[in-house]
Amino acid sequence: MKIKIRVPSTTANLGPGFDVFGAALSLYNEFEVEYVPNARKTSFILTGEGKKLLPRGVENLVWQSMLKTFKVLGEDKYNLENLNIRINLGIPLNGGLGSSASAIVGGIALANVLCGKELDKSKSQIADLAIKIEGHPDNVVPAVFGGLCTCSDGDGDHGTVLHLPIPKLKAVLCVPSFELRTKHSRQILPKSIALKDVVFNISRVAMLTVAFCRGDYSLLKQGMQDKVHQLYRGKVIPAMNEVFETAISAGAYGAFLSGSGPALAAFCNGKDALNVQKAMVKRWKKESILVKSHVLDFD
Ligand code: HSE
Repeated sequence: MKIKIRVPSTTANLGPGFDVFGAALSLYNEFEVEYVPNARKTSFILTGEGKKLLPRGVENLVWQSMLKTFKVLGEDKYNLENLNIRINLGIPLNGGLGSSASAIVGGIALANVLCGKELDKSKSQIADLAIKIEGHPDNVVPAVFGGLCTCSDGDGDHGTVLHLPIPKLKAVLCVPSFELRTKHSRQILPKSIALKDVVFNISRVAMLTVAFCRGDYSLLKQGMQDKVHQLYRGKVIPAMNEVFETAISAGAYGAFLSGSGPALAAFCNGKDALNVQKAMVKRWKKESILVKSHVLDFD
C-alpha cells in the first residue's frame, strides 16, 4: 500500500507576529511511502526544485522526522531497507516559505499513517512533535492545520492554536535567487528588544487580529509593520522596504518579510495580484536580484 500526502507551504510572522502568526498557502511538497517487506532494493527519490541540494536517506529531514515519530510511537519495524520513499519538492528551499516545516510535518504524517494513525486525530500531537523538531511553531502549525493561525507558547504547558478567518485575498510571494537560512536569520536578531518597539509590535498585532476577524483589510498596511525582526533582517535583504512600498503602491493592502526570509510577501485582492506581482519583481530586478514569483491562495 502506498501512502501519499501533501503538505502546504507557509508564510510566517505576517510582519509583527514573530513566531506567532502563520498561514498555509497553495504551494505544496508531496510525500509518498510504501512498505515493502523483504525487498531486495528500496528507493529514496527526490524530485522537483532543489532536489540536488538535499541529502537522500538517513540525513534527510523527512526521514529524521519519520524516525523521531517511530521512536515516540515505540515502533521499530520500519527502516530505510523496507521503505520506498518519494518526495516531490514544490516549495523552494530556504526561501521563507516553510520548506523545513513541510518536510518535518510530511515525515511525521507518513510515519503516523504507517503506524496506524496512533497520533491523535485532532492533529495536536503531530503539531507538538513538529514544533519540538522545528524549534518554533508558526510554520509547522499552519502546515498541520491549514488556514491562518496564531500559536501561543504554553510556557511549559500545551501551547494554544487559534484559527482566524481565512482572508479573502491572494498572497503574492517573491522568492529571490539567494538563500537565507532560518538559523542565520535568527542569529542576526538582537537578544533583547527596546520596550517602545515591543509596544509598537503589540499594537500592530492587535490591529492585524482585528483586520482579519473583521475582514477589514485596510488595516493591514499599518498592521503589518514590525520592529522586532524585519528591522534587523532588512539589513541583509536588499531594498526590502522599497519592495514593500512598491507592492502597496501597486494595490496591495500590506507587505512583509515571509517568515525568516528572504521571500517577500504581499496580500491583495485577486484583481490586483498581477500588478502587485509585476511591481515587486520589477523593483527587486533593479537591484539585479533574480526572482521567482507566485500568486497563491490560502490553503
Ligand atoms: N518565526 C520564524 C522566524 C519563522 O521568523 O524565524 C521562520 O520561517
